[in-house]
Amino acid sequence: MFQHNVSKEALVGTATLGVVFAAGYLIAKRRYTFDTMDIFKSHSGGKDHPVLQYVLNHSMREHPVLKKLRLKTFEDPLNFIMVACEQAQFMANLARLIKAKKAIEIGVYTGYNALSLALAVQDDGHVVACDVKEEYTNVGKPFWKEAGVDHKIDLRIQPALKTLDDLLAAGEAETFDFVFIDADKQNYDNYYEKSLQLMRKGGIIAIDNVLWSGKVVNPAEDDLDTQAIDKLNKKIHRDVRVNMSMLTVGDGLTLAFKL
Ligand SMILES: C[S@@+](CC[C@H](N)C(=O)[O-])C[C@H]1O[C@@H](n2cnc3c(N)ncnc32)[C@H](O)[C@@H]1O
Repeated sequence: MFQHNVSKEALVGTATLGVVFAAGYLIAKRRYTFDTMDIFKSHSGGKDHPVLQYVLNHSMREHPVLKKLRLKTFEDPLNFIMVACEQAQFMANLARLIKAKKAIEIGVYTGYNALSLALAVQDDGHVVACDVKEEYTNVGKPFWKEAGVDHKIDLRIQPALKTLDDLLAAGEAETFDFVFIDADKQNYDNYYEKSLQLMRKGGIIAIDNVLWSGKVVNPAEDDLDTQAIDKLNKKIHRDVRVNMSMLTVGDGLTLAFKL
């Protein structure tokens, strides 16, 4: 029978070397990857997702103040509700593509996407930013100022439905270019309908969390949020007022293009 003729000391030494090598490899690997990947845990599978890492490492062109705001937001235990940054960049590119002037952010949180949109809309454009919690939006405000676009963000602290009604009452129907819906899920259909009224033809409505961590595949009977999202997904699929796509970016993103 084969016998190991290796001393206990040599085995311990070899094992120690292995551990040191593995630790060094992991540290070196981390240095070259996009930082604070934890922020994507709720969206795309977490920091150990190598394909997402590749996407981020080879596509993110994050404005330095957006990066600062992302890192600040990461200090908040609720950071998982922040938009995925690769998704924000994609939506900003869409806004640039259609030369958007007027945008609406429904659900601001710390204002990462509001800032991203404010940087993307035309110089004389603006973003109507809707939220109910000033303690969240106050986190973002200094960063909006630092990026030099705070004058382009019209923050309204009240229920978003009220803000959308105010815009309609002010005669702003069919004047907006881009809307991002990302607030309370049970109002999603209301936000969609009011957004359709506010959009110009060719405008884009972007709707976040349309996959809701996959729960839409089989909504539980008592899960009203998932049911609301699933119902709207099915409605938009059939809606002849728009062209549409559903993308698997982030937690699922539907784009509806008003006809
Ligand atoms: C998912 S977060 C928004 C994330 C944000 N879009 C970003 O760029 O990170 C949802 C936000 O919607 C807000 N919200 C919840 N109910 C609302 C309502 N009825 N009207 C306006 N905002 C609401 C919450 O306070 C929260 O800040």
